[in-house]
Amino acid sequence: MHKDDINAVLEWVDTERPAAIDRLCEFLRIPSISADPAQKAEVARAAEWACHQLRAAGLNAAVRPAKGHPMVVARHEGPPGYDGPTLLYYGHYDVQPPDPMELWHSGPFDPVVVEGPRGPRIVARGAVDDKGQVMSFIEAFRGWSKVHGTLPCPVTVLLEGEEESGSESLEPFLEANRDELRADACVVSDTGMWDVATPAITTSLRGLVYLEVTVHGPDKDLHSGMYGGAVPNPVQVLASIISQLHDADRRITVPGFYDGVPELPARVLDQWRAMGFDEGEFLGSIGLASGYGERGRSLLERTWSRPTCDVNGIFGGYTGKGAKTVIAAHATAKFSFRLVGSQDPQRISKSVREFFESRLPAGCTATFTEHGLSPAFVVPDSSPILAAAERALQRVYGKPPLLIGSGGSIPAVGALQRIVGVPALLMGFGLDDDCVHSPNEKFEVACFVGAIRSHAALLGEVGRMRR
Ligand code: BES
Ligand code: ZN
Repeated sequence: MHKDDINAVLEWVDTERPAAIDRLCEFLRIPSISADPAQKAEVARAAEWACHQLRAAGLNAAVRPAKGHPMVVARHEGPPGYDGPTLLYYGHYDVQPPDPMELWHSGPFDPVVVEGPRGPRIVARGAVDDKGQVMSFIEAFRGWSKVHGTLPCPVTVLLEGEEESGSESLEPFLEANRDELRADACVVSDTGMWDVATPAITTSLRGLVYLEVTVHGPDKDLHSGMYGGAVPNPVQVLASIISQLHDADRRITVPGFYDGVPELPARVLDQWRAMGFDEGEFLGSIGLASGYGERGRSLLERTWSRPTCDVNGIFGGYTGKGAKTVIAAHATAKFSFRLVGSQDPQRISKSVREFFESRLPAGCTATFTEHGLSPAFVVPDSSPILAAAERALQRVYGKPPLLIGSGGSIPAVGALQRIVGVPALLMGFGLDDDCVHSPNEKFEVACFVGAIRSHAALLGEVGRMRR
């Protein structure tokens, strides 16, 4: 291929922009909520739809049954006689539940393109996490196939439908299909940029321990006048234990929790400081004037490199309108612990359970459900594929990407590394204010187009590499 092979694809991407937006909107109309059993058929429909798009983009693609929601696997052999690196693309076609519905300005599965301060944006559940980003690499494949009749390097694609709900089918699937998925790097587009004009490559993700705890007290709901003062109240017992999870410095008090949490080298902290992160703007965009978290650490440090514990939901007792005088038999809370360094998810889950059990008063018991455990993940900050991505992003944005951390978790990234042995390249195009997992999720059209162009350029850069 010639020197201008990448530019020809970039030009094609620009003319294809309206059609690409239409295709993304079609994808967004499918309510593929993996956590909701009622949407099972829609999740399957999203898999079929993505498979069809991959075929139209020139790949051999199939929907493959898995334990839970199906996987989509696709393959392109690249140009004949090719002797360079191969890429695996990972993404997810499932989305988070849209609730609370009343806060959406338009239907979560009725995508609209509306004008915002940075130009048009696509608003719908899954717009950026992750359907928009999945479509960005599929559009790049399409561009290469249309313009040059082939992808410039061999590509395998794996799309899962359970990322937002624990990825329980993923590990067995990776184990059973290890050979087919092997590649020199796994490109993941499920993270963010620094800002709309500044690309980023994410080099760390936090791990996750998601635990649900139910405290049980009396064997039935009770009148709070007849029994109040006589029995333990599960809602209060739960609240009291939750309040003991952090100390006055907002550090987590679970024994052994900080085992494996590294102190970052001053070099890294200096690098982060030099990025000029604007805490005021970050907090202002969510209606806050000040942040909250572990004492003595900057906000970036707290989200990128420190472990945390958050209650994601709590319920028990009477939550309807008006008053009902009742002592509930049960109370439940859902927790996410974000992990860093070499914190061990199994050990932390066990320690948290013991923490609760040892604080229960007589008359109460607790039951626990794990909804996913994954360790933190760090990508080396230099490699030939990373350098190719840096060149691609430089070409598209006119400046090199920043290497950033992320507070989010993508369990598949660690599993792909561990089981298949493929190192990840996290090249994402979301923005902090995209309302991920929240009402009115959006993807800036500028980010979508930049993502397609970047993936097209990355393919071209990798296609020029030789072993
Ligand atoms: N795309 C996100 C992860 C993410 C969010 C990366 C923000 C970078 C910035 C991903 O789909 C996600 O939300 N993952 C879940 C994990 C899961 C096990 C439910 C998360 O981080 O909560
Ligand atoms: Zn995601």
